[in-house]
This record gives sequence, C-alpha cells and structure tokens, in this order.
Amino acid sequence: MSNWIEVGTVQDIPKLGARVVQAPQGDIAIFRNAQDEIFALADKCPHKGGPLSQGLVHGKTVTCPMHNWKISMENGEAVAPDHGCSRVYAVKLDGEKIFLDLAK
Ligand code: FES
Repeated sequence: MSNWIEVGTVQDIPKLGARVVQAPQGDIAIFRNAQDEIFALADKCPHKGGPLSQGLVHGKTVTCPMHNWKISMENGEAVAPDHGCSRVYAVKLDGEKIFLDLAK
C-alpha cells in the first residue's frame, strides 16, 4: 500500500541540489535536476554511506561528494564500474507540490 506524504514544493529544492526529509526509514534526499524533474533516494551512498544530498546533480545522476561514485537517481544503481544500490523512493507531483511514497 502507498503512503504518500507531502514534502513541500519544487521551489523548496535548489535546482541541481537536494533537500533532506527525515523519515522513519532514515534520511531521504529529494533531488531536483535542471529539467525540474524530482527524484528521491536514501541519503546514503551505496559505497560508504556518504550523504548523496550533498552531491552534484547532473542529468539523472548524482555524484557522491565523498569519492565521486555516480548514482542513478532513477534506479539508485551505481554507474559502472562501481557496484551498489541506494534505495529509491517513488515521488509524484501535483502541480508544484511534491509527494513522497514512504510505503516500501
Ligand atoms: S561514500 Fe559515496 S562514493 Fe564513497
């Protein structure tokens, strides 16, 4: 079952940046790219747990600030040659409002 919660608006998130939402599952990074697409990942790099919310957003990936792994914001997978996966959360927009699904 879905558990959608409202987490603010697109404008609350810096372009090419992120904002952290605290959830029972742990911190979740909500990202906004240049096209104003919104993505949500656990704020924890699959490498050594670096804060992805402080990474660099480019296209549909974010580069971890710790050791520069690139993580797909679509599926949470590290881009080859690195291996690992961060948890992805579903997001949806209703106008400018962002909703995050905490169900999984
Ligand atoms: S902790 Fe993210 S690249 Fe090492």
